[in-house]
Amino acid sequence: MKIDTIKTKPFEGQEPGTSGLRKKVTTFQQLHYLENFVQSIFHVANELSDNLLILGGDGRYYNAQAIQTILKMAAANGVKKVMLGQNGWLSTPAVSALIRKYHAAGGIILSASHNPGGPDGDFGIKFNISNGGPAPTSFTDATYQFSKTIDQYRIVKADDIPLDKQQTYFIGDMEVEIVDSVTDYAELMASLFDFKKIKSLFTSNKFSMCFDAMHAITGPYAKNILEQQLAAVGSVINGEPSEDFAGGHPDPNLAHAKELVAELYKGDKAPDFGAASDGDGDRNMILGKNFFVNPSDSLAIMTANAHLLPGYATGIRGVARSLPTSRAVDKVAQALNIDCYETPTGWKYFGNLLDDQRITLCGEESFGSGSDHIREKDGLWAVLFWLNLLAVKQQSVEDITRSHWQQYGRHYYTRHDYEAIETSIANTLIQNLRDKAASLAGKEFSDYKVKLCDDFSYTDPVDGSITKNQGIRILFEDDSRIVFRLSGTGTEGATLRVYIERYVADINLHNMETQSALAELITIADKIAEIKTRCKCNAPDVIT
Ligand code: G1P
Ligand code: ZN
Repeated sequence: MKIDTIKTKPFEGQEPGTSGLRKKVTTFQQLHYLENFVQSIFHVANELSDNLLILGGDGRYYNAQAIQTILKMAAANGVKKVMLGQNGWLSTPAVSALIRKYHAAGGIILSASHNPGGPDGDFGIKFNISNGGPAPTSFTDATYQFSKTIDQYRIVKADDIPLDKQQTYFIGDMEVEIVDSVTDYAELMASLFDFKKIKSLFTSNKFSMCFDAMHAITGPYAKNILEQQLAAVGSVINGEPSEDFAGGHPDPNLAHAKELVAELYKGDKAPDFGAASDGDGDRNMILGKNFFVNPSDSLAIMTANAHLLPGYATGIRGVARSLPTSRAVDKVAQALNIDCYETPTGWKYFGNLLDDQRITLCGEESFGSGSDHIREKDGLWAVLFWLNLLAVKQQSVEDITRSHWQQYGRHYYTRHDYEAIETSIANTLIQNLRDKAASLAGKEFSDYKVKLCDDFSYTDPVDGSITKNQGIRILFEDDSRIVFRLSGTGTEGATLRVYIERYVADINLHNMETQSALAELITIADKIAEIKTRCKCNAPDVIT
């Protein structure tokens, strides 16, 4: 095997964000850019040497080219075997599942999640460790440090291999096994949920659903599981993965999954259940007939009902949610007398809690939920969870949600995003909030009195690591809450996220429109952070 050592120079900014290194495709296309970052991964993850690596991506533009490069670099860095998804396709949850099932030393996922793709879109690369979860900050810090001084990388001279056949190849001494992208993942799902019961929903002809794969990776998974195994014939729309997601923005929310939303809001003719997933298959949106389930509520409802499903019949150990996620799940945890952890934004913080068996379920407001079955959030898992629940309860999505509110109270919740703000303006806005945090306690804004205001810091209860400056949170006396933080996944300027929540126990007040219910708090958020004047804008770019 002939290994070339190629001289290179460091690139600035190869610092992984909330979820791996995410940049414009054109940035990745610079000579040696991808190679530098991949070499940094191999340098830090020396456990990959003589071991198994899982590799795949969401099929976006540059996926196939990047895979050929990574394979040749893996061979040159002593990887024993790569298990690769056919066509270079693997959803993020499928990579996590394969790492765990085949005891791989790690996995490389090529994706920029819900960010648009194509030659002018985004690309990304993230490394998952042997538990199947995103590499911890200590790892990503180390790769970043290495990337700052890198002067060479290793690569094998070899021909590209075909990605479209399930076959085994050799690159130098390294074996590459191309596997079906769906089979193992589908088997895992069948072990958690009652497929027979879900299937009977569809064969009864009294229940219909629509799943929007948004031209992204979940198409093949949804067709296999929903249409073929569960007899939800014709339920999958936009099910062919496309390199640029057919020009769309593969983010499953009310703003971007327009086709699905239109379908579910068409009155009596709407299907009973609707769902969508994102670019790499880890997010989910859940809809009922003319009804939207807020992701924070979805996590709470899952927690309250998990014991009804086969994979969770023995009950739940504990739950976790990210800081900005509404505290709906906290109420359920309290009632079940289980622990509820509040973590910084990003799935990587759940890994230790899951590994240490402190929690069974976890989720984020950003349309992500998951469980102990893997170490990533999992879009289709959430869809199947809801389907199984609907089959058991024989109630509509709306009825299940409303009775949940009746029992636990309703957390009105919204997130306002201000995108592509100049970085210095965004940083100053946050710094200003940080500076005034301590003095806000006790202050009154119309009917709301501030109980606590701080910059969230997290101490991992398992390894004791401390993560600071994770978002400014303002808690009011009546349990309402506003959280401000800057996105760690954007590729252009800064994105300010403002999360607003209000708890209402009174069932007579559960029918308000969300933005109206939160109107006063939205005004207060602007007053405290001076968003409109500082960012020179009139309204958020995206409301979810
Ligand atoms: C966003 C979400 C966060 C999620 C991440 C990856 O990160 O807010 O919850 O874990 O995408 O899907 P952010 O851009 O806010 O840093
Ligand atoms: Zn994603």
